[in-house]
Amino acid sequence: MSFVVAIDGPAASGKGTLARRIAAQYGFHHLDTGLTYRAVARAMLDAGASLDDEEAAAELAENLDLSGLDRDVLSAHEVGEAASRVAVMSKVRAALKRAQQQFARKSPGAVLDGRDIGTVICPDADIKFYVTASDAVRARRRHAEMAAKGAAAAYDAVLADLRRRDARDSERADSPMRPAHDAYLLDTTEMDIEAAFAAAQCLIEKAI
Ligand code: C5P
Repeated sequence: MSFVVAIDGPAASGKGTLARRIAAQYGFHHLDTGLTYRAVARAMLDAGASLDDEEAAAELAENLDLSGLDRDVLSAHEVGEAASRVAVMSKVRAALKRAQQQFARKSPGAVLDGRDIGTVICPDADIKFYVTASDAVRARRRHAEMAAKGAAAAYDAVLADLRRRDARDSERADSPMRPAHDAYLLDTTEMDIEAAFAAAQCLIEKAI
């Protein structure tokens, strides 16, 4: 039996940091499912394939190796943008769903973070969180992250980009980003990672 923690939320909400903290605390496996979409997008860009080519993207998704995913390699802004375009394709989502659900069965437990974990990938997860923060705070975090990596971008452009991506992710027909009805909402607008982790840990201790 494996304990499953499902974490969803928009970009730069803090869900990834929270997922890594929880996985480290409990010795669980962690999958950042955004990386699976990013890896498909990266391969499409590298192959010079059209981002509308669902068959090509689905084939790449079918053959994706989850063990080789690296956020540093896949962090580029254009990869995130392309990822949200391939993420609207049902054949891509179906292929990645199989791989993600298999990952969720790992013992002794798994933490998966993304946009549709609590709703579609692991609807029976032992505990679900939906992590949010105001648009302005998320854009500030993303802007600071990019500046630290030497990738300067105007704050206004980062904010506009986040909003565009949120809209695409929450308005798509297949598996739109939204909180599961039984998810705990964690608003990190005025919370640092320690406070968010402490809140999540209290709830996990009751469920474990
Ligand atoms: O979280 P990250 O920014 O790496 O995700 C990149 C894109 O992948 C998202 O904007 C979203 O379109 C897609 N995604 C998704 N479902 C998930 C995880 C990510 O559609 N579970």
